[in-house]
Amino acid sequence: MASKCTVPAVRDRKVTQGADPLVMLTAYDAPGARMVDQAGADMILVGDSVAMVVLGYDDTLQVTIDDIAHHTAAVARTRPSALVVADMPWMSYHVSVEETVRNAASLVRAGAQAVKLEGGRRRLPMVEALVAAEIPVMGHLGLTPQSVNAMGGFKVQGRDAQAALDLVDAAKALAHAGCFAIVLEGVPSPVAALVTGAVDVPTIGIGAGPDCDGQVLVFHDVLGLEHRVAPKFVRRYADLHTAGVDAMSAFADDVRSGAFPSIDEGYRMADDEVEALGLYGAA
Ligand code: KIV
Repeated sequence: MASKCTVPAVRDRKVTQGADPLVMLTAYDAPGARMVDQAGADMILVGDSVAMVVLGYDDTLQVTIDDIAHHTAAVARTRPSALVVADMPWMSYHVSVEETVRNAASLVRAGAQAVKLEGGRRRLPMVEALVAAEIPVMGHLGLTPQSVNAMGGFKVQGRDAQAALDLVDAAKALAHAGCFAIVLEGVPSPVAALVTGAVDVPTIGIGAGPDCDGQVLVFHDVLGLEHRVAPKFVRRYADLHTAGVDAMSAFADDVRSGAFPSIDEGYRMADDEVEALGLYGAA
């Protein structure tokens, strides 16, 4: 079994200092967490993407702290070697510092070893309070899906020089406030490279090009569990949607033809008991 990945170990993983890139994948339940862990990922993110890839919503705004706690607990029960990071859903860290800490604590009690939240300077009081409460925080900048309405859609961020410099500034502020890593989502590759060079904590990219200290993808995207149009940064490593439909079609064919179940797939009964059943049936 691989040794447990910890927050301090992740914090030290800067590629420029000779570290291997970090690998993070999402998972939302026990079988998914076991697969991600056996694949050797450093971190499992219980992402609020669960809203879109599992629960069928169009955005991430519908999931609550209880939803994330429920999925975090399922992942944590597998006792993975990977670090378990739970997403703080929209409105769980926006109202007050006190509410933020209480909500994050419920994710820790569900089994998270760290939490992730979206946004820059406006989140600094929340990040500082969490760190003061000994709750490790991962930042998330760029295309932050919880801002979908404010951004006017899921749009690449930091495309002009000023916006790129603002991202660098926000990343530095998050790192200074105590974030142990920062997700960079949907930003041009040169911007991600600039941010990565500007902070001493690892950056983890998704749609942010190769010059980050690690990469994260969503479980369902990597495995091709859906055939919906995916963003250009998604690389599908399998087509489990087709494999799954084929397997279930074969099951349906076997049921309809009588090929399933076979005698060996049923339970036997002693001959005298079968005989006795016949006797009772006749009575
Ligand atoms: O919710 C999620 O899956 C995420 C990743 C895309 C970084 O936040």
